[in-house]
Amino acid sequence: MYLLLRLSVLRCTSPVLRSLNSSPPGSRLHALRTFNSILWYNLPQKWPLFKLQMELTGLSNIGRKPINSTIESWRHSCANSECTLHQLSPYIGKLKSSIARDLILAFSNTGDLVADTFSGSGTIPLEAFLNGRNVFASDISPYSRILTEGKLFAPPNYEEAIRKAEKLIKLSQKMPHPDLRKVPKWVRAFFHPNTLKEAINFASVAKQPGNEFFLACFLGILHHQRPGFLSYPSSHLVPYLRDKKYPREQFPQLYDYRELKPRLFAKIKRAYKRISQDSSAKAIFRKSAIQHLTFPTKIDCFITSPPYMNALDYSRDNRLRIWFIDPTRNLFSDNATSRKSLFIASMANLAQKLNYSLKRNGHCILIIGEEVSRSFNAHPSKIVEELFSDLIPSLKLIYSFTDKIPDIRRSRKDCRGIKTERFLIFQRQ
Ligand SMILES: C[S@@+](CC[C@H](N)C(=O)[O-])C[C@H]1O[C@@H](n2cnc3c(N)ncnc32)[C@H](O)[C@@H]1O
Repeated sequence: MYLLLRLSVLRCTSPVLRSLNSSPPGSRLHALRTFNSILWYNLPQKWPLFKLQMELTGLSNIGRKPINSTIESWRHSCANSECTLHQLSPYIGKLKSSIARDLILAFSNTGDLVADTFSGSGTIPLEAFLNGRNVFASDISPYSRILTEGKLFAPPNYEEAIRKAEKLIKLSQKMPHPDLRKVPKWVRAFFHPNTLKEAINFASVAKQPGNEFFLACFLGILHHQRPGFLSYPSSHLVPYLRDKKYPREQFPQLYDYRELKPRLFAKIKRAYKRISQDSSAKAIFRKSAIQHLTFPTKIDCFITSPPYMNALDYSRDNRLRIWFIDPTRNLFSDNATSRKSLFIASMANLAQKLNYSLKRNGHCILIIGEEVSRSFNAHPSKIVEELFSDLIPSLKLIYSFTDKIPDIRRSRKDCRGIKTERFLIFQRQ
């Protein structure tokens, strides 16, 4: 059997395989072709994955087995192969784009509506869009809005982006200097005063609607210790000054003025290093808590990674970037991470809304950060699984598996508890 399959792949004599080889990117056939090229090297080891793929593509009805090889491929970094728009700015709890892509290709078709209501940095929406799916995305966070819209509605090419960036820089340079005495001390602590003035003026220009890509690029160079960033030495993901590691007396150059324009332009260049934006798909983002969100009526495929219960604080951990987005607002608190009851309530709310919106045969894929602590005396994924089965009786759990989160994706010391993610794949009957 293996030999026969390998031969048919080799010679491409079968009409199915011939059509696979000419299928357009983003189609389910294209996904199968990608998986076939994995199979090519070591079919016996990849057999369970192949069986799953055959089933997903309707070619066979063989029972499901763990998709070990796909999960194995998720361990490798995709930083050098993914669309570079994914790298605009860091985000705690960000999903790997290779995971998003594999799930989108396996569980939706070109032209389908893919929804993600906890879009975070926009990984799932961007991958869906790049693969020709229409997108509905939402999140409670203003930082998420900037990143998701910045990626989905980026200027079509580098030249256009640079032209627009020049205009925004000029506008910001014409603005009067901001009064730094009105800036909170904790914000001032991160920047040379002249850098801070430029940053505040640029942020206020880039905040105008339609400039989300530029604001996202600016937020992406806001803090780090590298020369291409604006702050004094500090961490990149969560804003902590690294003045103990890099004391001013020993590293005076790290505390110099850092001009915004060349750093922003270099960032834009990096953003356009590898992009394929020729998608004709449509995309919408809504900034909203799940509790207040109106879902679109017909969702083909719902893929999301809900907030990590009790482990991440998306508001506090993004505080410096959020201050630049809106200095007048308090950090948002209506999130599902702070208490078990809030997490359960928001998951129940999601299930009720999906009950009306998910199409028959449509898939719902939840990627749940597992935390096992005394405050949460059961696996969050078990709770979600039961909740969804109760509230959407026509939803059948067709597949589930656990993936270990690599250390590199854990953002804070107190996030050590989240070691795995549980993937729940439901289908509406
Ligand atoms: C695990 S993150 C999503 C990460 C995303 N998949 C990515 O790749 O960047 C969960 C998201 O849920 C959002 N969130 C938390 N509470 C929420 C609520 N009540 N309603 C909507 N979004 C919420 C957070 O702002 C955060 O962006």
